[in-house]
Formats: sequence, structure tokens, C-alpha cells
Amino acid sequence: MDLLEKCRAYAWADEARDVGLYPYYPAFQGPVEGGQAVLDGSEVLMLGSSNYRALSSNPQVMGAAQDAVALYGTSATGSRMLNGNLDLHEELEADLAGFLGYEAALVFASGYMTNLGVVSALAGLGDQVYLDERAHPSLVDGAWLAKASGAAVHTFAHNDPGDLARHLAAAPTRSVLVATDGVFSMEGALAPVAELVAVCEEHGATLLVDDADGVGVFGRGRGVIEQAGMNGRVPLMTLSFSKSLASQGGAVLADAKTINFLRHTSRAQIFSAGLSPADTAAAHASLREIRRRAESEPDALSAAEYLRRTLDALGYDVAGSASPVVAVRFPDQTSVLSAQRVLVDYGVYTNALLPPACEGYQLRIACTDAHTPDALEAAIGVFASVREELLPRYRQAA
Ligand SMILES: Cc1ncc(COP(=O)(O)O)c(C=O)c1O
Repeated sequence: MDLLEKCRAYAWADEARDVGLYPYYPAFQGPVEGGQAVLDGSEVLMLGSSNYRALSSNPQVMGAAQDAVALYGTSATGSRMLNGNLDLHEELEADLAGFLGYEAALVFASGYMTNLGVVSALAGLGDQVYLDERAHPSLVDGAWLAKASGAAVHTFAHNDPGDLARHLAAAPTRSVLVATDGVFSMEGALAPVAELVAVCEEHGATLLVDDADGVGVFGRGRGVIEQAGMNGRVPLMTLSFSKSLASQGGAVLADAKTINFLRHTSRAQIFSAGLSPADTAAAHASLREIRRRAESEPDALSAAEYLRRTLDALGYDVAGSASPVVAVRFPDQTSVLSAQRVLVDYGVYTNALLPPACEGYQLRIACTDAHTPDALEAAIGVFASVREELLPRYRQAA
């Protein structure tokens, strides 16, 4: 059996296609930020984008990307350490640090690479890493790299500071990294940041909060750390630019000495080209827009709350959360894939999630500021009319 035998034997996607239920890699023809999108030539209501502040077609953000291409070209053309470092990167880092309340920031080429590069650079031989058991795969993969250089890696129960405290009480060293998502973007739940801070401070552990989905939405745009009143007490924060910041890329925020260390040791930083000028400028323009809107509550939150309440009243099995993400649970793979398909056929696009992307089977609905009350009513109308079709359990409930 050669290496590629597993690829030839891989059947899941073709089997799902054969029965008309394959939901992945849809090719949209145009913007996908929220509101309307075009799929297979038909308009759909986009309820599956993480562009929560609907900034990816904002004129200022688009203009900033276009100006950056005109002034800097299309590529950073190399590692920032050697030749790919632009004043655009450093200006964005200074503004991110100022806005989010840290001494310094370091921009990476994606949120995934940020977590991979930060965790693997900070943890190694003699260190312990504790991850929330549902932490984003980029934190998990960073921990696996850290393990390859000698770190011991553990998980603690999801959103359970008590379980973390039990682990830390038994930890053989105080050289400990604890890492969690700020918002668990598949289910929408927020991390209990204040309680995690208390446990980490008591045990001398260093907390990293990956607030990819919280920045721009919570805490006047500053994310879940600000919302929990924990400014200055979470030593490491990471984020992605591919959600509210309507771009590509990511960043870590920390004290100046830690950022200086990461600039010179993080392999995902050093051995990869700098973020493109357009992506950097778009993220910066979005940050300015988020700062400008800091005092107003994102419409994405009230939209999600409305959908959550209404879908629950319709008999759907809706997971509780306070984020722009609404998770609707289904009993098995076929039922969630069928639901996603039926909704697309009726013009509503949602994400179908299977393990290991989430616990169980669920539709992920993500709201953005672009979802008008009319659009939400239209979506609810579809959910109401297809309820009978979707699931035997909903038929029974009706
Ligand atoms: C919590 C979290 N961390 C990291 C990432 C990765 O971000 P990016 O898309 O910038 O690689 C995501 C996005 O899926 C995320 O939700």
C-alpha cells in the first residue's frame, strides 16, 4: 500500500455528493459578507459568514486595500525579518496595541499561523500547556509543535475553570501556558475570562485568549477580555483579521519583551512572507471603523438574539449563547446535511458542521451587521416553512 492509497480510498465527499448532500466548498459569485450572496447563479441570504461587522464591502476598507496596492504593489515579497516588513505592518501593530491595551503587537499572515507560531515559540522543554478541550485547531496544532520540542500538553474541560484549577494545582512547574478561545466560533459560547484569569493568577500560569471572533463585536470592539473587565490581566491575546476586521491575517498582543522574543523566534513569523499590503491596509481600515463605532452595540448581536429566540419558539434545538453565532443542533449527520441542503434550496445559506468541527451535528448561523430586520424575517419564514421537512423529531414536536 503506497502513501496515496488513503486518498484513493477516501470516499466520504463523493458519497455525500452522490446523494446530493455535499455542503462544502460552495463557490460564491461575489461578496459573501452577509445580506445577499450569489450561489450557483441564484441569490441566497448569507447566514454563514464570520464577517460580523459587514466591513468587507465597506467603501473605506475597500479603498484602503486599493490604495495599498497602488502604493506598495500586491505582495510583501518575503519574510518581514529580511525584506517583507512594511511601515503598514508597524502602523497596524501600533494601533492594535493601543486599541486593545497592550504594550506591543506582532502581525502574522493568518490567525491560524499566529496561534501556531506563538504557542510553539513560547512552550517547549520543561513547560506545560493546558488547552480548553474545544480550543481552535490552530491552538491545538501549536501545542502539538510545542510537544515536539518537549512541552507536556493537556486539556481541561470545556469552559470549566474549576477543572483547570485542579490541573494547575497538580502541575509540576509554574512555567505553564493556558490557552482558550475567547468565543468558541462553532457553538457561539464565550469563555469565562474573569474566572480563568483568577485561576491562572492564583497558580502563576500565563493565560492566552484567542479572541478571533470576539474582537470587533464585544467590549466596545476590544473583545471578550474588555467585556469581562480583565484589561491588563491576560498576558497574551491573539486575534484573526478574517472575521470582524474583514481581511486576512492575525496578530498577537503582549508586553514588549514577549513581542520582541516572538519577532525573533517564532518560525511561523520568520519563515513565511509578511502579510500583503492590501490585507494589512484593509485590516487597519476596519480597525479604525470598529473604533469609530465603539460606543454602539453591533446589530449582529441583536440579530442573533432574535433568531435564537424565534427558532427556539419554532421548535428548533437551539444552543444558548450571547454571540453573533446561533447553533442549531441536529441528531445525526444525514439530518444536518439535509437541513443545510433544504435551506439553500429555499435561498438561505448556513454552515453544516460535523465532528470534529463541533460537538455533535449542527447548523451554524452567523449574523452580521448587514442582516436587516426584513432579511431576518425572510430567514425565519424559510425556517418555519421547512420545519416539517427537516427532521422527524420536529415533525413529532409539531
Ligand atoms: C478562534 C479562532 N482562532 C483562529 C482562527 C483562524 O483564523 P484565520 O482564518 O485568520 O486563519 C479562527 C478562524 O476560524 C478562529 O475562529
